Amino acid sequence: MSGSEAIGVLFVCLGNICRSPTAEAVFAARLMREGLADRIRVDSAGTGDWHLGEPPDPRSRQAARARGYDLEHLRARQVVPADFRNFGYILAMDDANLRDLRRLQPDWYRGELDLFLRAGGCRSPLEVPDPYNGDARDFERVLDLVEVAADGLLAALRARHPFP
Ligand code: 4NP
Repeated sequence: MSGSEAIGVLFVCLGNICRSPTAEAVFAARLMREGLADRIRVDSAGTGDWHLGEPPDPRSRQAARARGYDLEHLRARQVVPADFRNFGYILAMDDANLRDLRRLQPDWYRGELDLFLRAGGCRSPLEVPDPYNGDARDFERVLDLVEVAADGLLAALRARHPFP
């Protein structure tokens, strides 16, 4: 992938109402700040279908809002086969998400299918823990991990792609 075509980054978790929409909003904010919003497309999806069409979990929305990120416009969707055509980077929040994505991955896919934290340069932990059955601290932890990995991912993309 190079040239003028926008790079696509898809963040994936289980329900697409907690972790991956948080990653989408945080990474989108980084892209806006860096003037790269027209060079890198960002989206999120879930491997599961329980929450299709729903906005992000109120606990995720509130925790994100407190750090200046807006999740209000996002709606949950499930991973679809076309995502492998449309996204050169498909980044999973945990090992189970990655396993599910590998099962869906077509043979011809040559993009990067990996854990988000690993792609973002983190060494440990490598998973963003599912906060759905947790408390406010777990949602803060998601944001802590996502913010670090978003910076690392942007640095990795800058190293690989010739942005101005
Ligand atoms: P997410 O969290 O994968 O970060 O969106 C979850 C949301 C919903 C469920 C599980 C995890 N659920 O079982 O409904």
